[in-house]
Amino acid sequence: MKLNENYSNLKESYLFSNIAKKVNEFSTSNPDKKIIRLGIGDVTLPLCKAVVNAIKSAADEMGVQSTFRGYGPEQGYDFLKNAIKNYYAEKQVELDIDEIFISDGAKSDLGNILDLFDKENTVLVPDPVYPVYVDTNIMDGRKIIYINANEENDFLPEPDKNIKADIIYICSPNNPTGAVYSKDGLKKWVDYAVSSNAIILFDAAYEAFITNEELPHSIYQIDGAENCAIEFCSFSKTAGFTGTRCGYTIVPKSLGKLNKMWLRRQTTKFNGVPYIVQRGAEAVFSPEGRKEIQTNLNYYRENAGIIADTLTRCGIKFFGGKYSPYIWLKCPDNMSSWDFFDYLLSNIQVVGTPGEGFGKNGEGFFRLTSFGSRENTIEAMKRFETLIGIQ
Ligand code: MLT
Repeated sequence: MKLNENYSNLKESYLFSNIAKKVNEFSTSNPDKKIIRLGIGDVTLPLCKAVVNAIKSAADEMGVQSTFRGYGPEQGYDFLKNAIKNYYAEKQVELDIDEIFISDGAKSDLGNILDLFDKENTVLVPDPVYPVYVDTNIMDGRKIIYINANEENDFLPEPDKNIKADIIYICSPNNPTGAVYSKDGLKKWVDYAVSSNAIILFDAAYEAFITNEELPHSIYQIDGAENCAIEFCSFSKTAGFTGTRCGYTIVPKSLGKLNKMWLRRQTTKFNGVPYIVQRGAEAVFSPEGRKEIQTNLNYYRENAGIIADTLTRCGIKFFGGKYSPYIWLKCPDNMSSWDFFDYLLSNIQVVGTPGEGFGKNGEGFFRLTSFGSRENTIEAMKRFETLIGIQ
């Protein structure tokens, strides 16, 4: 037996597990201190009523002989795929339901999709980046190259024709920086991928936060993307499914074999998302569901506004927050991002995510999320303002 030695090239633990461990240690030795978590992008509002009702009635169906269901289609039920197809059609994107694959979330699919690609491919990721893109490729032993996302390019790097890559990751609205590509910006990546026969893995997990319809929600709103891109999306951030688990991946048939390969992979290694959960996800697209999730998204948007206002008053430079639940701020006093993490945790018990955890260009930056409760967000920002003052 030989181990996959690529694992020894990974950092010892996944970023968010590492942070959780540090916070738990602090909490054990300071049991009287109230910690406010604005670190991992986990939602706090409950599932909306339309979703809960759909889940309940699906559970009832499962308890009755005539409506009970066993194994479902691995790639998802047509009722949910049709709801997604209609959602895309509103954005002038025509999908065939066989191009839509339901899964337990974008994170799993972003990792699993790599089964379809040879280990010899070169991977291009922006730096800073959601660590899953990097870690899953390290596990496979692929060569990874980085493209700089930084203040100079507003954290929206453009393709460089001199760089040759086969698999390209793009996340917009971006995790961690909150930056959003314009249609022109994405078009450059699509043209680059088409001309170099590369594939773009487009993470659209935060698309629901976009309120400016000039900005693309889906890469398929860009001409030519159907020939070079796979898109991943999730109900986690859109509709509070972080614990309920449901997402979807679009693999266009115009990508040739990839659509059939993904079907083959999923039917072999995956048994589908529970019927009950898929009914809940379907309800996200119902008229009531859409209204209710907008109410929740607005709540998080207002939290982002509270954080942004505080940072502005403190004179701290930041990015994101407008069309994203993430606020990416510059650590004051040239502090390193982990020092700033420790500083906030020990002085005001506010947890964020150190930018360095997302890559070397994240050093000196810090990520806060707007997914906290209103009360905690206000309290965290009060403590922050008192500690940091005016820079
Ligand atoms: C994050 O905080 O970056 C996200 O919650 C991680 C995820 O969605 O897996």
